[in-house]
Amino acid sequence: MDERPGRDGNLKELPSAYERWRSSTLGRITDEIEGKLILDLTGDVAGRTILDVGCGDGAFAVESWKRGAKVVNGVDASPQMIEAAHARARTHGADITFDVGTAQALPFPDNTFDRVVAVTVLCFVDDAAQALREMARVLRPGGRLVVGELGKWSTWAAERRLRGWLGNRVWRRARFRTAHELQHLAKGAGLAVGSPRGAIYYPPCGLAARLLGPVDSRLSRWTTVGAAFVALAATKPPR
Ligand SMILES: C[S@@+](CC[C@H](N)C(=O)[O-])C[C@H]1O[C@@H](n2cnc3c(N)ncnc32)[C@H](O)[C@@H]1O
Repeated sequence: MDERPGRDGNLKELPSAYERWRSSTLGRITDEIEGKLILDLTGDVAGRTILDVGCGDGAFAVESWKRGAKVVNGVDASPQMIEAAHARARTHGADITFDVGTAQALPFPDNTFDRVVAVTVLCFVDDAAQALREMARVLRPGGRLVVGELGKWSTWAAERRLRGWLGNRVWRRARFRTAHELQHLAKGAGLAVGSPRGAIYYPPCGLAARLLGPVDSRLSRWTTVGAAFVALAATKPPR
């Protein structure tokens, strides 16, 4: 999260900002913890159809493909990120379809996917309620949506708000939410919402991540208070 999406908000630099983030100590530890939580909430993907909304450079999509997903699609508003996602898929020999598109108008028919995942995307979407309705629309009845976002009251969100006030174009327009607000959005889209989970209880600093990262999953079982990352799963009611 530290370097993404672009230190000064330059969208063309998004993929390289991601590379820098993942090669930093903070980025490596944080991505691993967030990724585990998202995979845990997503459940077994083997044989399932998966959509990653705001897929970025395709890390989750490729991981789903490696875990045996039958069909994997990724959508992102940034052509540069979709290019990077294609490159990642090629490197892994993964058969994934990536498209440029927005969360508010997903280019798929109703009832298509078993799992829809959107990680740190809603904060950038102008009409989050519409995005949730779209994700619910493309989910199959009984299918599961997994949403993960930067927690509104975390030190991480505070740092990004500050960057926005100092002129970063991407963070200036970001809107962070509480777990309760995420639940409300998912309910509004007609989904049955599970309990929220938290992760990343340390401040955005590599040393803190190294010291506190190993106990993060224990805190995750207790509370979302103080979590920089909040996530939940929500199910589309069967017909
Ligand atoms: C912080 S990144 C997260 C990427 C990926 N989900 C991950 O966790 O690594 C946010 C991504 O959302 C994309 N994005 C922003 N607004 C979007 C929208 N309205 N529809 C789809 N993607 C969007 C950006 O281009 C960027 O790749």
